[in-house]
Amino acid sequence: MKIFLDTANIEQIKEAAELGVIDGVTTNPTLIAREKRNFVDLVREIYEIVDGPISAEVVSLEASGMIDEAQRLAKLGKNIAIKIPMTEEGLKAVKALSFEGIMTNVTLCFSPAQGLLAAKAGATFLSPFIGRLDDVSHEGMNLVRTIKQIYANYGYKTQIIVASIRHPLHVLEAATAGADIATVPFDVLKKLLKHPLTDIGIDRFLQDWQKLTDKEKAF
Ligand code: G3P
Repeated sequence: MKIFLDTANIEQIKEAAELGVIDGVTTNPTLIAREKRNFVDLVREIYEIVDGPISAEVVSLEASGMIDEAQRLAKLGKNIAIKIPMTEEGLKAVKALSFEGIMTNVTLCFSPAQGLLAAKAGATFLSPFIGRLDDVSHEGMNLVRTIKQIYANYGYKTQIIVASIRHPLHVLEAATAGADIATVPFDVLKKLLKHPLTDIGIDRFLQDWQKLTDKEKAF
């Protein structure tokens, strides 16, 4: 499973990229707004740091406006994926952009039917929002499992990005469900790699190492 970072924060992206486990970045207007910087400059900078798809979202509600925004964003580079909301106008835009060879990421997906339509329109990626479904007492990960099954039934190539991830278990469940990608907030990425027994183990090894003489430690 690929791991994308769900943030527009340059420091977080740089730190995560150094770990060598980040395959892409997803942003949305909320994440961009937190950075208080020019949108395009920010996306361009992220593009320089991460070698993988960078999702940038359109804000128009009409297909023509979405397509115009998408075409301008796509000029930033071949790895730009245009996030398009799962609406009637969004589907029209996805279809048009897929003909132009521009990558799309259909976002705000909350039902299997929406996932099916996004794939039929030619979406490159689909983002089911798991945490927001959990928030309203739905089992978010069931959506991923069902869409995965639908895509397998018909051989759709649309890649599932599990989004709105809130904790490490979401990432593990996404991997178990066979999702193509999990897009994780920075704090969840840090939690994924930590285990107290690892820290305790390192302390113990270092304490034991100090019991050796300098001659015994030399290498
Ligand atoms: O990738 C979409 C994600 O950013 C939404 O997350 O936490 O706002 O539901 P959240």
